[in-house]
Amino acid sequence: MAGNRMDPWVDSYAQRAQGLTTSAIRALFSVAARPEVVSLAGGMPYVSALDSDQFADIAARVVREQGAVALQYGSGQGDQTLREQILEISGLVGVRSHPDDVVVTAGSQMGLDLVTKIFCDPGDTVIVESPSYVGALGVFRSYQCNVVHAAMDEQGLDPQSLREGLSENPRVKFIYTIPSFHNPAGLTQSYERRKEILAIAQEFNVPILEDDPYGLLGFEGEPPKAIRSLDDQSVIYLGSFSKIIASGLRVGWVIAPHGVREKLVLAAEAATLCPSNFSQLVVSRYLAEQPWQQQIKVFQELYRERRDALLQSMQALMPLGVTWTVPLGGFYSWLTLPQQLNATNMLPRAIGSMVAYVPGTGFFADGQGAQNLRLSYCYPDPARIEEGVRRLSGVIEAELELVDTFGVNGDSGPSTGSAHTHIPKSDLV
Ligand SMILES: Cc1ncc(COP(=O)(O)O)c(C=O)c1O
Repeated sequence: MAGNRMDPWVDSYAQRAQGLTTSAIRALFSVAARPEVVSLAGGMPYVSALDSDQFADIAARVVREQGAVALQYGSGQGDQTLREQILEISGLVGVRSHPDDVVVTAGSQMGLDLVTKIFCDPGDTVIVESPSYVGALGVFRSYQCNVVHAAMDEQGLDPQSLREGLSENPRVKFIYTIPSFHNPAGLTQSYERRKEILAIAQEFNVPILEDDPYGLLGFEGEPPKAIRSLDDQSVIYLGSFSKIIASGLRVGWVIAPHGVREKLVLAAEAATLCPSNFSQLVVSRYLAEQPWQQQIKVFQELYRERRDALLQSMQALMPLGVTWTVPLGGFYSWLTLPQQLNATNMLPRAIGSMVAYVPGTGFFADGQGAQNLRLSYCYPDPARIEEGVRRLSGVIEAELELVDTFGVNGDSGPSTGSAHTHIPKSDLV
């Protein structure tokens, strides 16, 4: 056995584990978890807006009245009643299907993992937006996929760039997109754009993996119609209760074409035997007994107020040359720094100034994003958000002054930003 003192098994891991690396940023984020730091980094839903007594009551009744089921193994595909309720919710974004085509998962993260597992051999290509969800990139990396980024414009995934990605790469297994209130870009595809993306996918005969955890968290008008509402054969749809009820329940779902669904159930059974019956029954009761649409409105209002606080304070405080996206829902805004700055190198100084963000490189598989960062407004209250922006603006100003004085970006060593910037679990979302 070779190995090293830290890990005697270092030479024994599968190749797919080689992508699972850590970085200097991890240590910084443990500092960022201190209460004096304003964290605009993690995308944690504000679960304190839920009535915890209500959940305690539901959980107690689930155990008392349905204990024999709740505390037992269940169906690998998920509870039948919950799958029907899921279709009621998915109907709000225009997705119509049969309960047989729904698979309940431990969050949509598991859906991402299962879909990749059944479609991708090492070296197969997946096309993703530029930037893309860090948790999805982690999954694609662990299955040794070739990740190809397609550009985004203000309407989301750019059709021309998607077409190029599909033309230039063999064995594209699926197109991964987050069309509504994108993580991390904060952008939303228009209806026309969705139709265009779908038409290209159909032309190349490549399925779309549509990830939609934020679709019901829009700040104005009706929720955007899912791409899956336009074609139920070419689109695999991922949904989640994490952002509309509570992430700790770990309940999400996949709605897939028939054949894909069969494979997914087998893969899900191999991974976990079945999703948690207890969590499913809590969600199911909550949906049956509580005014959940009202609760979603509460979340929408709360996040809108926080989005406004972020945008207003950035407008007032950010130095010239910093730009950002204006999200119409969801949790995130995507910032672009003036060209000479590097968001990864700036992070230690930001945390020293008691504000945290996620540097842009983590959202790319190819090292792009040094000039970008993601800010989340979902967790801190508006006053904390304003304070966070004040601190961050000060840090950016100081960086710009450094550049003015020394002509470099205050780089204190090799960039920790790389294709594999590691982001700790609490900031993965
Ligand atoms: C775009 C996107 N997809 C999937 C997930 C995973 O969510 P969950 O597994 O909690 O449903 C997240 C979490 O933040 C996300 O932002």
